[in-house]
Amino acid sequence: MAENTVLKLSGLSKRFGSVVANDDVSLTLVKGEVLALLGENGAGKTTLMNMLFGHYLPDAGTVEVADANGVLHALPLGHPQAALAAGIGMVHQHFALAENINALDNITLGSEPLRSLKRNRAAARAKIDGIIERSGLKAPLDVPVGQLSVGERQRVEILKALYRDARILVLDEPTAVLTPQEADTLFSNIRSMITDGLSVIFISHKLREVLEFSDRIAVLRHGRKVGEMATTDADEAKIARMMVGADTPKVARQEMSPGAPVLSLKNVSVSGRSQRETLDNVSLTVNANEILGVAGISGNGQAGLAQLIAGLVQPSSGTIAVDDEDIPKPTPSRMVQAGVGRIPEDRHHEGIVGAMSVAENMVIERLDDPDIQSLGLLRREAIADNAVKLAQAYDVRGPGVDASARLLSGGNIQKLILARVFERAPRLILANQPTRGLDMGAAATVGRRLLEARARGAGIVLISEDLDEILGLADRIAVIRDGHLTEAPTNNREQIGLMMAGAAA
Ligand SMILES: Nc1ncnc2c1ncn2[C@@H]1O[C@H](COP(=O)(O)OP(=O)(O)OP(=O)(O)O)[C@@H](O)[C@H]1O
Ligand SMILES: [Mg+2]
Repeated sequence: MAENTVLKLSGLSKRFGSVVANDDVSLTLVKGEVLALLGENGAGKTTLMNMLFGHYLPDAGTVEVADANGVLHALPLGHPQAALAAGIGMVHQHFALAENINALDNITLGSEPLRSLKRNRAAARAKIDGIIERSGLKAPLDVPVGQLSVGERQRVEILKALYRDARILVLDEPTAVLTPQEADTLFSNIRSMITDGLSVIFISHKLREVLEFSDRIAVLRHGRKVGEMATTDADEAKIARMMVGADTPKVARQEMSPGAPVLSLKNVSVSGRSQRETLDNVSLTVNANEILGVAGISGNGQAGLAQLIAGLVQPSSGTIAVDDEDIPKPTPSRMVQAGVGRIPEDRHHEGIVGAMSVAENMVIERLDDPDIQSLGLLRREAIADNAVKLAQAYDVRGPGVDASARLLSGGNIQKLILARVFERAPRLILANQPTRGLDMGAAATVGRRLLEARARGAGIVLISEDLDEILGLADRIAVIRDGHLTEAPTNNREQIGLMMAGAAA
């Protein structure tokens, strides 16, 4: 066993000011295994991997990596180049490819000096072709990365790591942005890579895939490692208990009769720049006290629907009304005034301004509110008080409300946005993939908050590719496919799945 260890983390600790992100974490990885690293949002998973990869310098602890002969060597800490040279590859939660450069150059960039790059292009391509052949990671190599789908970009990132001869691959929430089909493909690719001698650590909040695809599970809680087990000994309840230290409460949904229409779309079309932004003759009504679930594989018009309701695009035909009042030329501020609250899909780009503080982000949509701003001056004290209150009520954890919002963990950014939206008691809530990347507890909180909003009379459009989430929360379900919206006649999982895939209802 010992000679099979490819990676050994011992006693790693990391603090950010008052936040203890990692506390004395030890972990080993065996050659050819897939280790799932689990934990609540903010538990310290990404931080631990960033220390491994040299992005952060630990306050204490050591990292040892095996060489090609299986002999462990201490890794110089805080040096990404050293980690790369030792065979560690990392694919981050948020991709970091150059968008205007093609995949081939993205993959080779940084591995070789630019001058020799041109000369060695044929050799580079042959090497990449070989990796694609063995791993099954298919991606177009000659197209600017900006034109690739999310799944393809991710494969390019993995190819980049393998091109640099990674023997240990770290994937931070690799399936958070993938469709279920793409996720399955990714895991079968990972299986081929394992056979090829790779070892993998992947971070995930999706217990189904963890149970299906990992060999072993390690759990972090509040920065400490609280458990490890073979996946064959694990089940959802056991993992959940280990992650949060208690059983997670189930969200109870009560039947309610719907009220008056809050949002009506009549024969609306949107001519988007791509398929994901295009809508074709969509009609829908969402009533007060009602959650309309919009199910579908992402890329089928969800972005267009969300932009439409947010006032970010104009319909090319058809009408849109909030509370029975027609809105002929929707704009974002017009929609906010009409009572629309928005939980955007891309929370990093559309949800927060990373350089502003947590407190400022909590009031960013009501800067004209006299409580927040008077005579052109921000009312700092009111903003801080509001932030402390909301952080408490919505369990936003992190380095404090004065810190930049970009320092929050993924899940805590989402809680910040929820706090901002729900606090204004909107008439209509547009929730676009609201639990993506959230841990079970935080996801349950989102569900509970949506149900509370429904109970107080809001109408909710819940766009999600997580069918379980929709089945658990929605009163009615519509399926979006190729820009068309069709109400599902049933709440039968399999039938809705077929509609999503394009088969007749
Ligand atoms: N550069 C930083 N400065 C200050 N605090 C930080 C920094 N990076 C991370 N943190 C804090 O450290 C804690 C652990 O964050 P980390 O990103 O490792 O969590 P995570 O387990 O990956 O969560 P998620 O599942 O939400 O991605 C969080 O409270 C986070 O706000
Ligand atoms: Mg993380």
